[in-house]
Amino acid sequence: MFKVEGLKFKYPKNESDVINGIDFEINKGEIFGFLGPSGAGKSTTQKIMIKILEDFRGKISYNGKDITEYKDDFYESIGVSFEMPIHFSKMTALENIEFFLKLYKKNADIETLMKRVGLWEDKDKMVGEFSKGMKIRLNIVRALLNEPEMLFLDEPTNGLDPKNAMILKDMIREFRADGGTVFITSHIMSDIDQLCDRVAFIVDGEIKEMDSPRNLKIKYGKRSMNVEYKENNETIKVEFPMDNIGKNSEFINLLQTKDIETIHSGETTLEDIFIKVTGVGLKDE
Ligand SMILES: Nc1ncnc2c1ncn2[C@@H]1O[C@H](COP(=O)(O)OP(=O)(O)OP(=O)(O)O)[C@@H](O)[C@H]1O
Ligand SMILES: [Mg+2]
Repeated sequence: MFKVEGLKFKYPKNESDVINGIDFEINKGEIFGFLGPSGAGKSTTQKIMIKILEDFRGKISYNGKDITEYKDDFYESIGVSFEMPIHFSKMTALENIEFFLKLYKKNADIETLMKRVGLWEDKDKMVGEFSKGMKIRLNIVRALLNEPEMLFLDEPTNGLDPKNAMILKDMIREFRADGGTVFITSHIMSDIDQLCDRVAFIVDGEIKEMDSPRNLKIKYGKRSMNVEYKENNETIKVEFPMDNIGKNSEFINLLQTKDIETIHSGETTLEDIFIKVTGVGLKDE
């Protein structure tokens, strides 16, 4: 659906490129995640892809056509929810939505959408009086109001409480089930793990790794089986190689004779992979 080839970009004020030649494709019907440390170039890439930033080098095509050839029709088919939601604060939520609705040919059912994100009861409140989470939810409604085929979400769950984050993740999955395609960035690894079909890790404007979360976990994980058992009131940890585990007599003997507390395969987490691939600890950011 989207094909990005040899993308490079420099902000006019800067001396050097912040995007250093990246290539990736987003397939129709997939949720594609962009991960990387702060300042890696995630938002910049998204802004280039939705034609907010121009003067990039390389080639980007959407549905087989160069994005530079698209006019306003481009915005009919995409929905965008970015980091810092901007709404008219002196207008009510519904007035805001109605304003943006008029810009599009296709219109989604606003009552359904606003009820879904729990904002229908607050529709007549001034947006200036909204909490941060309410503004973010209103932003999601805005992203979906033209029934787009592709969604760009930049840290969409950032600032949402767990219940609203769950609703949003369900909405993203439903959007995909209906044939939609999603490009998402997030610092919340569990969200990315739960949602994405494929992820790319971007560091200093370069893609360092790209695959499904499952394949990455297998690649970076240790092929091991970790067992914890109790003996003389002490917890003892043992690690076995995963290969031929069913024939490992020591492992089988342990299962038969000990008071087992936990058994885990040595699969890694997206957090660990993030640190390995980017060389940056999440806490350092
Ligand atoms: N308007 C701008 N003018 C100049 N430089 C910018 C501008 N916006 C971003 N940058 C720089 O471009 C680089 C990439 O920024 P970008 O916002 O794409 O990072 P990000 O990966 O989205 O980070 P975060 O996780 O913090 O949102 C950073 O070095 C940043 O300082
Ligand atoms: Mg960003």
